[in-house]
Amino acid sequence: MNEKNNLCDIVIFGGHGDLAMRKLMPSLYHLAKEGYLNRQSRIVTVTRRSMSKEQHISLIKEKLIRHVGSEIFDESEFVDFAALLECVEMDMTKHEDYSRLYEVLRVKPRYERIYYLSTSPDLYGKICKELAAWRLIDDASRVVLEKPIGRDLESSRSINDEVAAVFDESAIYRIDHYLGKDTVQNILALRFSNAIFMPLWSSGSIDHVQITLAETVGVEGRWSYYDRYGAMRDMVQNHLLQLLCLIAMEPPCSLDGNSVRDEKLKVLRSLRPIGPDEIMQKTVRGQYTEGNINTVPVPGYLQEERGDFESTTETFVALRVDIDNWRWSNVPFYLRTGKRMRSNESVIVIQFKKVPHYIFPKNGGSIDDNKLVIRLQPKESIKLKIMNKVPGLGTRMRLRPVELELNIPENSPRTPYAYERLLLDVIRSNPTLFMRRDEVEAAWVWVDKILEAWDTQNIKPKPYPAGTDGPTASIALIERDGRSWYEE
Ligand code: BG6
Repeated sequence: MNEKNNLCDIVIFGGHGDLAMRKLMPSLYHLAKEGYLNRQSRIVTVTRRSMSKEQHISLIKEKLIRHVGSEIFDESEFVDFAALLECVEMDMTKHEDYSRLYEVLRVKPRYERIYYLSTSPDLYGKICKELAAWRLIDDASRVVLEKPIGRDLESSRSINDEVAAVFDESAIYRIDHYLGKDTVQNILALRFSNAIFMPLWSSGSIDHVQITLAETVGVEGRWSYYDRYGAMRDMVQNHLLQLLCLIAMEPPCSLDGNSVRDEKLKVLRSLRPIGPDEIMQKTVRGQYTEGNINTVPVPGYLQEERGDFESTTETFVALRVDIDNWRWSNVPFYLRTGKRMRSNESVIVIQFKKVPHYIFPKNGGSIDDNKLVIRLQPKESIKLKIMNKVPGLGTRMRLRPVELELNIPENSPRTPYAYERLLLDVIRSNPTLFMRRDEVEAAWVWVDKILEAWDTQNIKPKPYPAGTDGPTASIALIERDGRSWYEE
C-alpha cells in the first residue's frame, strides 16, 4: 500500500513515556513500513531527557524490537524509519524551552503539524498556550489528547476550555484507543450493513447486554497516575461507555464524524443516573488483594508501589446501566472491568430473549438462549450462538448449542494496532473515531453522579484476591436480576 499522505510533523509530547514507546512508535513504524507515512514527514519526540540524536534513535530501535517483536522488526526498514526521527530536549512547563521546538519546526513551514499530547492532562492547557505563543499553530494544525480528560466534569471543562482557546474543535482529536480496535469498528459494520440484525436490535428481542473488560495486569508502574483515577475514570468513563454507545446507538445517517458522534451523544444523554438510593444495588467497587495470576503470586494493590499504604481507589467496577429510550426500555446493560482478574478478556455479549414457547424435550440436552458474542481480546472474534439438532434417529429430538463464527480468516493481512488506525485518521483529518467535547462531558455528567454517591454514602472498595473474577458482590449484582455473567 502506498498512499500519498500529507507532509506532517508529528510532535509527541511525553515522547519517551510508556505510551509513546509501547504504542505510538510501534504504530508509526508500521504505518511507515506499509507506506502510509510520507517519507519526508518527521516524528519529533519532545522529552526532558538529554540525549543525542544517535542515542534517541538507538533507544527507539531497542524499544521497537521489544514491542513490535524481533520477528517482525526489520533492520533495513528501520533505516528508513530512523530518517524520520527527531528529538527535542525541553521542559514543557518552561516558556523559553519552546524555542528549541520552534527551531526544529520552523524549517518545514509547509508541513501539517500534529501535536500528540501524551502527558498528564494537567499540562494540556499549558502546552497549547505555549504552542500558540510561539506561533506554532496554523489552520492545518491538529492536537491529539489522550484520555482521561480531567477527573470530573469540572476539571474536564477547564482543560477543554484551555485547549479550545487555541484549537478549533474540528482540530481536536480526543483519543479513546478502543475505538481504533478493528473488532470495535466491526460493531458498526455488523449492525449497519446487515439487515438481519435490524429487527432484532431492541428490547423486542434482546434480554440484556454484558460488556466485560478484564485484565490480568496490575497497575504496572503507573501507580501515581492510577491511584488518582481508579477504574471508574480510567476505563468506565471512556472505553466502556464508548462500547456501550456503539451497541446502543441509533443508525447514523452517514459515517461522517458528526453523524456518528451525534448518535453516541444521544445514548450518553439517555443513561439513567445512578444516585445514592440505588448505588448499592447497581454498582460494585473492588480493590485487589494479593493472589495468584496463572499460579504466579502477585502483590495486592496496596503493596504494589512501596510497601503497605492506604488507598480507597477502586481497581474493579461492576454496574447495571439502564438506558431511558424506546429501543432499550427494560434492557439492562451490565458492565464490568478490573485489574488483576482471572483472565485477560474483553467481550461484549448480546443476550437474546427466550423463544416464547419451547416445544423440544428439555432433557434432550442443555438449552441455551441465542447470544451474539463479540470478543475483542485475547483473540478477536464474533460468534452467534444458536440451537441445533443433534444428528440421530432417537425418538426424542435432541438439541445442542452451536456457534456460527464470523472470524477473521487466518490468512488475512495483519490486524493493525488500534493506535495505528487512529494515528492514520489524524493524518487524514478524519475525526469519526474520536470523541467530541460534548460526548466527553456527557460521560462525565453520568460518571460524576456515581462518584459522588460513592463518596457521600462512604462506599469503600470490596477486596478481591488477584486472579479471581472480582468481588462476589458483582456476581450478586447480576444474579439479583435472574441473570449471570457470561463464561465460555
Ligand atoms: C488504558 C488504561 O486506557 O487501557 C489502562 O489506562 C488499561 O489502565 C488499557 O490497561 C487497556 O487497554 P487494552 O487495549 O490493553 O485493553
